[in-house]
Amino acid sequence: TVADAGSGSRALATCTVRGSINHDEYFHVAHIVRPGETLSSTFHESRVGGKGANQAVAVALAAGGGESSGSNPAKVKFYGTIGHDGAWIRERMREVGVGVEGILVSETELTGRAIIQVDERGENSIILFPGANYSTLHEDAFRAQSLTTAGTGGYFPHSTHLLLQNEIPLEATLSAIHSAKVSSQPPRQSQLGGQRDTIVIINPSPLPARDTISAFPWEKVDWLIVNEDEARELFEAFGGGVGRGGGDGKVEAARELVHALGGMEAFRNTSVVCTLGAKGVLARQCGVEKGMEIVYVPAAKLRGGVPKDTTGAGDCFAGYFVCELMGMADAHDDSADKEGTDFKLTQMELEKLLKVAVQAAGMCCEKSGTIDSYPTRREVEERMK
Ligand code: ADP
Ligand code: NA
Repeated sequence: TVADAGSGSRALATCTVRGSINHDEYFHVAHIVRPGETLSSTFHESRVGGKGANQAVAVALAAGGGESSGSNPAKVKFYGTIGHDGAWIRERMREVGVGVEGILVSETELTGRAIIQVDERGENSIILFPGANYSTLHEDAFRAQSLTTAGTGGYFPHSTHLLLQNEIPLEATLSAIHSAKVSSQPPRQSQLGGQRDTIVIINPSPLPARDTISAFPWEKVDWLIVNEDEARELFEAFGGGVGRGGGDGKVEAARELVHALGGMEAFRNTSVVCTLGAKGVLARQCGVEKGMEIVYVPAAKLRGGVPKDTTGAGDCFAGYFVCELMGMADAHDDSADKEGTDFKLTQMELEKLLKVAVQAAGMCCEKSGTIDSYPTRREVEERMK
């Protein structure tokens, strides 16, 4: 176990992110290219992208990465697949403190890619090439390993939290969830000897088709992170009334929607976090006293007042949110009366955690770029003083 020098508390929580990793290629153009047209771009740039990689980077930064005192060993490990053309992306992730041993290199596929045209007004148009994100190298290795070692180890050894999105094959996501919740590995021991399960957090973006939504094992998901549109789409996919939480720009309408969504049978075991862009975030914790479930935190005040680039704000939020959850799990582990990972947060704890995530996501909107605009932990704390 790793002792957190200074505070004396034991930092045990670790996170696995299983997801997408992309080479984002930006082309600045006078206008978005038209059918049949050939257009020269005025500026070109390659960046790290993919929701999985973005969120892993955000967890790492939230855990102190990107600063000289970055956490060691890594608090977050990323499992994904690149091609031989993606080594530089793995290097960038390593630099901010992401554990990259779980990044496999496909012999036959290229790194997933986003070809992004940005016009003079900031409008964009994107072509996605999934590439190695759709490789089954991880699942194949896992199957081979379970056959030879009678189920020891599991897909993701030694992690208390599992963070997922929806930019890899559904089979890969399901396999990861299955491994976290019902794998044949022995239950993890908490510091105090109790048994604990892996906490599963999913930001199911982009949302799958409705039949996939209704067949998804939501009962194994502890925290669902969605934006307002996704919340409405999920609600309707489960037969909720159309037009609920009517997108009238009011927090009250969104609160009603989150309340209704979280109250559905499918989400009986799932807490729902719904981000509301410039309005902030709502969270509904399942299994807590009636009337105490929902917490609202407004968006952070932006320097300069208006956002510069909100790309990847949702991923920044998700990463910081999960790192804060991990911190709460460690804190609860330290107190003898609150054992294990299935504790409930108090309203105050939930609010405190959301405030950090909202501050980080807000700071990401003040600069252009995706992970390049994610703040370090120190920068977030500085701003919250
Ligand atoms: P997504 O990008 O996934 O659709 P949102 O637009 O809800 O997600 O943004 C995620 C979070 O980023 C919000 O909860 C908020 O904290 C922050 N955020 C987004 N847009 C703004 C904004 N214009 N001003 C301040 N914060 C913002
Ligand atoms: Na940004």
